[in-house]
Amino acid sequence: MNIGIFVNSKTGNTLFVAKKLKDRLAAMGHKVALEKVVAGNDGEMDPGKIVLSNPPSIKGYDMLVFAAPVNGARLAFGMQAYLQSLPSLEGKLLAGFVTEAFPFPWMGGNQAIRGMEKLVQAKGGTLSAAGVVNWMFTGKRKALIAETIEKIAAISN
Ligand SMILES: Cc1cc2nc3c(=O)[nH]c(=O)nc-3n(C[C@H](O)[C@H](O)[C@H](O)COP(=O)(O)O)c2cc1C
Repeated sequence: MNIGIFVNSKTGNTLFVAKKLKDRLAAMGHKVALEKVVAGNDGEMDPGKIVLSNPPSIKGYDMLVFAAPVNGARLAFGMQAYLQSLPSLEGKLLAGFVTEAFPFPWMGGNQAIRGMEKLVQAKGGTLSAAGVVNWMFTGKRKALIAETIEKIAAISN
């Protein structure tokens, strides 16, 4: 399968998980690309005003994974703007995950995933796998990274 991982990451946490996911999917025999989603004006608090720098194309991928941090208990605005900018996602296999500082998914992570699901549905798609990685405690973080990666790897079979 040709898989694209589209990652928005300010301080590297989400990118760290995305790279591990890339290695896992590649080890399964998939062709995997890591594509960065970067907002030129990252601090902008209105997703409608976000300007994306060279937004990656989704053309040619069978499966897409969207990854971003939680900001203010919501999906990072750069990823919101990117998802809104996409063409139809109908027929694509889709997954997503978010990372957040706080130790429980109800502290923004679940809400961010719901936000991602809504934006994906607006493009005719649905998330077949999703994960929240809480960063604060090392042991829990490692377990959630492994769980998220395995959930996403499982749908690529
Ligand atoms: C502006 C801003 C808002 C944030 N809001 C939240 C939040 O609501 N809940 C939370 O758990 N973490 C929050 N965080 C922490 C990040 O979600 C967390 O550190 C994440 O792993 C960063 O990912 P990155 O390194 O890929 O940018 C916030 C960080 C920033 C910069």
